[in-house]
Amino acid sequence: MTIINPYESLPCRLTEIVEESPGIKTFTISPKPINFEAGQFAELTVPGVGEAPFTPSSSPFDNDKLEFTIMKVGRVTTALFNLKPGDLVGIRGPYGKRYPLEKFRGKEVFIVGGGVGFAPLRSLFLALVHNINDYKKIYIRYGARSPKDIVYKQFLPKWDKLENVDILLTVDVGDETWNGRVGVVTVILDEIPVDFNNSVAIVCGPPIMMKFVTKRLLEAGFSGADLYLSMERNMSCGLGQCNHCRVGELYVCKDGPVLTWSQIKHVREPFV
Ligand SMILES: Cc1cc2nc3c(=O)[nH]c(=O)nc-3n(C[C@H](O)[C@H](O)[C@H](O)COP(=O)(O)OP(=O)(O)OC[C@H]3O[C@@H](n4cnc5c(N)ncnc54)[C@H](O)[C@@H]3O)c2cc1C
Ligand code: FES
Repeated sequence: MTIINPYESLPCRLTEIVEESPGIKTFTISPKPINFEAGQFAELTVPGVGEAPFTPSSSPFDNDKLEFTIMKVGRVTTALFNLKPGDLVGIRGPYGKRYPLEKFRGKEVFIVGGGVGFAPLRSLFLALVHNINDYKKIYIRYGARSPKDIVYKQFLPKWDKLENVDILLTVDVGDETWNGRVGVVTVILDEIPVDFNNSVAIVCGPPIMMKFVTKRLLEAGFSGADLYLSMERNMSCGLGQCNHCRVGELYVCKDGPVLTWSQIKHVREPFV
């Protein structure tokens, strides 16, 4: 009998590393080692250092490669930032639940991101664009600390030209290169031009941003069941075994990472 170790990583090779902003890089792994659906995550291992969970930022429909957009914050991410194209990493997954795209069909999809939280949203956006006629309209509202902290700068103008896509950015602090909106991401949520009876909102970003954006979207008129939140918790097993990632009675690794506001609204401090 073959025993499959669920914690075993698949070795795979980094083929490209792109600096998106100071402190954020996109890592390409090719050939694509695992399949996933938008919203799911994987555990990436740096040999000899450890592993951490990340959500792919590439399209689930891209059969050639897998990309992760990662912010340097600690041990594993610093080790990742020291790697070069050609180096090996490990991967296990995918884990967690995907965005339920079938529920978004025919609707306006209102995506709100902050900082590196744009990573899973890029994967979602590319999945939506793959079948763009299935959706009524796609909005992106994205906030970064400063113009140089904006990720995917090379793609944003192209995405904005797509029919039925509407993109608005803001930065906390502008500079001489910036002509756009200034202020935290809620400044670009003063107008939400959707039909709340036929739209969904999807949010991913730092906890404080998630808290205020959720409040604003609920006040504006989104229902808790139509508000999808990418939750983050410290993780260990990624398999619903270790209890590290609980939000109330739910496990982020198994029931999430995408949870609706209706699922977590009774939790005292859901965004930590
Ligand atoms: C489901 C899921 C998906 C994720 N997807 C992504 C992704 O696509 N891109 C990405 O960059 N990150 C993502 N993260 C966060 C990522 O897992 C952590 O940043 C990573 O585990 C940090 O590991 P480390 O060893 O470098 O830091 P550690 O050494 O464990 O932590 C060092 C310090 O950084 C702090 N820290 C840890 N995580 C963060 C954070 N996210 N932001 C700020 N400070 C932090 C810790 O509190 C600690 O003080 C995701 C997390 C989850 C749960
Ligand atoms: S990470 Fe172990 S239960 Fe979720």
